[in-house]
Amino acid sequence: MSDRDDIADQRRKKLKLITFSKEDQSLVESEKPQETFRDVGGLEEVKKKIRMNFILPLKQPEIFAAYGKEAGGSLLLYGPPGCGKTFLARAVAGEIDANFLHIELQAILSMYAGQSEHNLHDIFEKARESKPCVIFIDELDAMGGSRHQMRQHHDRMLVNQLLLELDGLQAHNEQVFVIGATNTPWYLDSALRRPGRFNHLIFVPPPEEAERETILELKLAGKPVEALNLARIAAETKLFSGADLEQVVKDAVESAMERTFESGNIEPITNEDLKKAAKSRKATTLEWFATARNYATFSDVNKDYQTVLDYAKKHGVK
Ligand SMILES: Nc1ncnc2c1ncn2[C@@H]1O[C@H](COP(=O)(O)OP(=O)(O)OP(=O)(O)O)[C@@H](O)[C@H]1O
Ligand SMILES: [Mg+2]
Repeated sequence: MSDRDDIADQRRKKLKLITFSKEDQSLVESEKPQETFRDVGGLEEVKKKIRMNFILPLKQPEIFAAYGKEAGGSLLLYGPPGCGKTFLARAVAGEIDANFLHIELQAILSMYAGQSEHNLHDIFEKARESKPCVIFIDELDAMGGSRHQMRQHHDRMLVNQLLLELDGLQAHNEQVFVIGATNTPWYLDSALRRPGRFNHLIFVPPPEEAERETILELKLAGKPVEALNLARIAAETKLFSGADLEQVVKDAVESAMERTFESGNIEPITNEDLKKAAKSRKATTLEWFATARNYATFSDVNKDYQTVLDYAKKHGVK
C-alpha cells in the first residue's frame, strides 16, 4: 500500500458520523463552540495569522474596506495528526461568536453517492443563511486528491462543486469563513490551491515545551493527582502531539486505577505514572515529518513547505 492509501485508510477508520443530524436529514450539525483561542495552548504564530485574515476584518471592517477587502475567505490548516487543527477551527468560530458547521467530506461521499454535490451546495447555502459562520472541512485529504487520480466519478463531481462554492465565496460569501484541514496538503488537487480558494496555507506544528505543560495540565484537570512536576514531563515529551499527550495521561490514569482496585482507596496519579507512560510511547508526529520532509526537499517547487523544513531543523527532527 502506498503512503497515501495508508493515510487515507487510517482516516476512514477514524471517521465518525457525528455530523449527521437525524431531525432535518442534513449532513451537518450547526453549533456555537464555546472554546476560544484562550483554550488553545500556544500556537501564537498561527493565531496571529488567523486574527489578521479572519478576525480583525470582522471586528474592524472599515479598515479593511479602505483597502478593498471584506471579511470572509478561506484557509488551510495542515500538519501532523493530533496537533490541534480541529480544535483550533472550533476556537476560531468561538472567537468570532460564529456558527460552526463541521463537514466530513468522506461521510457525504459515502452516504449519498450521486447526491453529494447537492448536499455540499446545501451546506454552503445554510452557512450563508447563518452568518457569521465558519465552515470546517475536515479530513480534506480523504477527498481532495488530484482529480485525475480519482476512480469515482462522483468524487470528481464533489471536488468540482467544492471549487464552485469556494469561488462563490469571493463573490457573495461575506462573513462566511471556510477552514480546511489536512495532514497531506501536497496531495491536494492544485485547483483547490489557486488564489481565492485555499491559498493561505498554515502549518500547525507540534506543541512547544511550555505548551505541552499546559496541555498536560488541561488533560489532568479535575483528576486525583499527587504534587506533579509537569515541566519535567513536558521536557521529556519532545515532538509529542496534543493527542499523544492525551494518551500519556490516559495511560497514567490507568496505572493509578489499577492501584486503586488493589488498595481499595482512590490512589492519585503520580509523576512516576506519567514518566512511565511517556517513556513507553513515541511521538506520532515523527512519521509525518519523515514524509513531509521528503516532499519539502524533493517536490516543493513553490517552497510551500519551507516552514516545515525550518521547524524540523530547529527542533532537530531526525
Ligand atoms: N495547542 C493545543 N492546546 C490544547 N489542546 C490541544 C492542543 N493541540 C492539541 N490539543 C488536544 O489534542 C487533541 C487532538 O487535537 P485535534 O483533534 O485538534 O488534532 P488534529 O490536528 O485535528 O488531528 P488530526 O490531523 O488527526 O485530525 C484534542 O483533544 C485537543 O484537545
Ligand atoms: Mg482533526
